Amino acid sequence: MKFLIEGGKALSGKISVQGSKNSALPILAATLLIKGKSVIHNCPKITDVDAAIDILKDFGCVVTRSDRTVTVDASYVKNCNVSDYLMRRMRSSILFLGPVLSRLKKARFSSPGGCEIGLRPIDLHLWALRLLGAEINEKSGIIDCKAEKGLKGNRIHLSFPSVGATENILLACVCAKGTTVLSNAAREPEIIDLAAFLNESGAHIYGAGESTVVIVGTDSLHSASHNVIADRIVGATYLFSSAITGGEIEIDNIIPTHLESVFPVLEETGCKIKRTDTSVFLSSPERLSRVKSVRTLPFPGFPTDLQSPLTALLSVAEGTSVVTENIFENRYKYISELVRLGANIRVEGSSAIVDGVKKLYGTSVCATDLRGGFALVIAALKAQGETVINNIHHIDRGYEAAEKTLSSLGANIKRIT
Ligand code: UD1
Repeated sequence: MKFLIEGGKALSGKISVQGSKNSALPILAATLLIKGKSVIHNCPKITDVDAAIDILKDFGCVVTRSDRTVTVDASYVKNCNVSDYLMRRMRSSILFLGPVLSRLKKARFSSPGGCEIGLRPIDLHLWALRLLGAEINEKSGIIDCKAEKGLKGNRIHLSFPSVGATENILLACVCAKGTTVLSNAAREPEIIDLAAFLNESGAHIYGAGESTVVIVGTDSLHSASHNVIADRIVGATYLFSSAITGGEIEIDNIIPTHLESVFPVLEETGCKIKRTDTSVFLSSPERLSRVKSVRTLPFPGFPTDLQSPLTALLSVAEGTSVVTENIFENRYKYISELVRLGANIRVEGSSAIVDGVKKLYGTSVCATDLRGGFALVIAALKAQGETVINNIHHIDRGYEAAEKTLSSLGANIKRIT
C-alpha cells in the first residue's frame, strides 16, 4: 500500500484526535488479569490494536469490537504461549508476558528480537519478573517462564525508566502476594492511564506517573470499563503537518499538559499556540525558523516518538537545527528518505544536523517505521509535486486512517492499494 501526496496545500481546520495506541495496548494486555468482561472505549482503529486483539483471542479470550469499543471476556484463559508470528507482528506483545505469568503461573513467549528502530532488548522486563519470583529460561529464541508458587511483591529499582518494563511490572504484580515498590519508574501519561484502568478494576496502585510507584497486591480484579486517553503523539504530528504547510489547525480533544515539552519547540519555529484544558490551536508563520537544539528524553522530556516528525518539520526551517536522539540507538533510518525529498540533513553520532532548505521536491520514498513513516508524510505535504510513500503498513500500525484526517484539513492525499 502507498500514499500518493500532492504537496503544497495549506492544512487548516479542526480535528479530533484518536485514542492513544501506547495506552490501548497495555490496557488490552491488562484485561487478561480479569476473570470477567472489560469494556475499553476509544480504542484506535489501527493494526497494532488488531494484533493485540488476535493475541487475546489466541489466549482463549472472547473479544468483540464495535466501532472504537473493544470488549474482552477473559473468564477463561487456556493458552500461555505467544507464537513467533504474533511476536514479530507486534513487538509490544511482550506486554502480555506479565499478565499471563501472573494469571497462569507460566508463560512461553518467542523472543521479540530487534526491530526497525534498534535492538530493543527486554532484559529489564525479565530481570524485574525474576525479582518477583519468576524462573526464566531463554533458549533458542524462546522465553520460558514459571512461577509455580505465584509471583511475590519486591523492591525493584529500574536502571532506566523503561516504559514497557514499568508496564510489565505493574501488570505482573497487581495480583501478586504482598507489596511491590518500584523506583525510577517511567512517568509517561500512558502509565497513568494503565494504572487508572487497573485501579478501576480493583487494583491498588499508588503514585503512577511519579518515579516511585507502590503496588499492593490483591487476590483478584473485577470487570470494569475504561476510556483510553487521547494520543499525544498523533495529536502533535497533526500539529506539525499543519505547521509545515503554513496552516492553522485546532485539535479539540487533546490533553495539552501531555505536550508541555513540544509547545516551546513549536513556538521557537515561529508558530503561535493557544490552548484550553482540552484543545490546542496552532497558527504557523510564512517560513518556519530553526530550533537551536532539541534532545529526546523520557517523559516529561521531548518524546523520542516525535524526533522524526520534528526533523521533517525542521528540514524546511530557516537556519540550522540540531536534534539529538537519546532513547533509541537506531532511529534515523528515515533520514535518507527525507534527503531523497531534497532535505539537507547529516547524522553525527546521536544527532541529526538539519540545514533548512527552501523547498522539498516530490519523489518516491519508503516508510521505514511508524513515526519515521509519518515524518515522510509531513515532508511530502510541503514538497513541490507528487510524492509516493511506499510501505505505509508501518503508518497504519499507529494512525487511524491518516489520509482521511489529512484530507479533511485540505491535503491532497490518496491511498493506493
Ligand atoms: C514505548 C513506546 C514507544 C516509545 C518508547 C519510549 C509503547 C507500545 N511503545 O516503547 O512508542 O518510543 O516507549 O518512549 O508504549 N530498554 C532496554 N532494556 C529493556 C527495555 C528497554 O535496554 O528491557 C531500552 C530500549 O532499547 C530503549 C530504551 O530502553 O533504548 C527505552 O525503551 P522503552 O522505554 O522500554 O520503550 P518501549 O516500552 O519499548
